[in-house]
Amino acid sequence: MRTLVLLLLLVLTSARIFERCELARTLKAAGMDVSTNASLADWVCLTKHESNYNTQALNHNRDGSTDYGIFQINNRYWCSDGKFPSHNICKISCADLLTDNISKAIWCAKIIAKQQGIKAWYGWCAHCKDRDVSSYIEGCGVQMKNDGFK
Ligand SMILES: *[C@@H]1O[C@H](CO)[C@@H](O)[C@H](O)[C@H]1NC(C)=O
Ligand SMILES: *[C@@H]1O[C@H](CO)[C@@H](O)[C@H](O)[C@H]1NC(C)=O
Repeated sequence: MRTLVLLLLLVLTSARIFERCELARTLKAAGMDVSTNASLADWVCLTKHESNYNTQALNHNRDGSTDYGIFQINNRYWCSDGKFPSHNICKISCADLLTDNISKAIWCAKIIAKQQGIKAWYGWCAHCKDRDVSSYIEGCGVQMKNDGFK
């Protein structure tokens, strides 16, 4: 049991899990609210429900595709893992979406938001849309740039 706990700790510490406000500030610095039609709070809410702020979140879908990283970006359309047939619209390797540095993930998420809007994310539609999401950036020292476009 103790070994298991230690192993789990090792696995957990090797993945970067953002703290809520740290993520809010990172997204703010990247201009996420300015270059998309969604507010910072919407983006923080989205990542909470898509990946629980975990940069190494990896989930397999029923259609055989895989969702990668903090924004759970799909390898059928946006990134390529070199195996699964992909449109690779963001022109990146899916592995780049699992790193501690989320700048590529942010860049790709902006492209998705531009093409499909934030409604492209199930986690946002199911948990953030039409809700008061202000608590997601509360106390983070970042301001709501816009109210989001939904
Ligand atoms: C945001 O929405 C407005 C109004 O629909 C549109 O004119 C603008 O191009 C959109 N901006 C982005 C970044 O999607
Ligand atoms: C993250 O990666 C980008 C390039 O993808 C780079 O410009 C930036 O300096 C990196 N940030 C850190 C904190 O390493």
